Amino acid sequence: MKNSKDKKGKNWRSMDTQDRTVFNSILKDLKDHPSVLQMKEYKQHGKTTTYDHCMSVARVSYKLDRLLHSKCDKIALLRGAMLHDLFLYDWHDSNSCTDGLHGYHHADKALKNAREIFNIGKKEEDIIYSHMWPLNISRIPKRREAWVVCMADKYVSLRETIHRK
Ligand SMILES: [Fe+2]
Ligand SMILES: [Fe+2]
Repeated sequence: MKNSKDKKGKNWRSMDTQDRTVFNSILKDLKDHPSVLQMKEYKQHGKTTTYDHCMSVARVSYKLDRLLHSKCDKIALLRGAMLHDLFLYDWHDSNSCTDGLHGYHHADKALKNAREIFNIGKKEEDIIYSHMWPLNISRIPKRREAWVVCMADKYVSLRETIHRK
């Protein structure tokens, strides 16, 4: 990632038409599901909604998988990334997040919602459960898909926090 742009001036995160087709076909049903759309009502970092944060994490995960040659299961990778923060409350509001420990507990809430609303598999479960490692120190990601989303989430969160966008 030292040279963030290739010879054609493209950023490593940019997607071509084929990437977008794969990406959109895997997330087609999730992107427009009412429970997922509900994430548009909540702010994640700065002005970014939780929905846009999850879309960015899915996009970066897709590109990171290619960059690292990690050969992830793309369906599980993207769907897990899209659902990783499906906790569905405003974590800045003390009435919604009464214990003040959102960072430690929201993965459990997202996992509970994802299990109840969607038919998720073990890989997606691992992605959601362990995405807050190393804050949740004992939840070391078990699968390559969970590692990639965990790294993508850190990268995207840092960008959103620094740029407050
Ligand atoms: Fe999270
Ligand atoms: Fe996140």
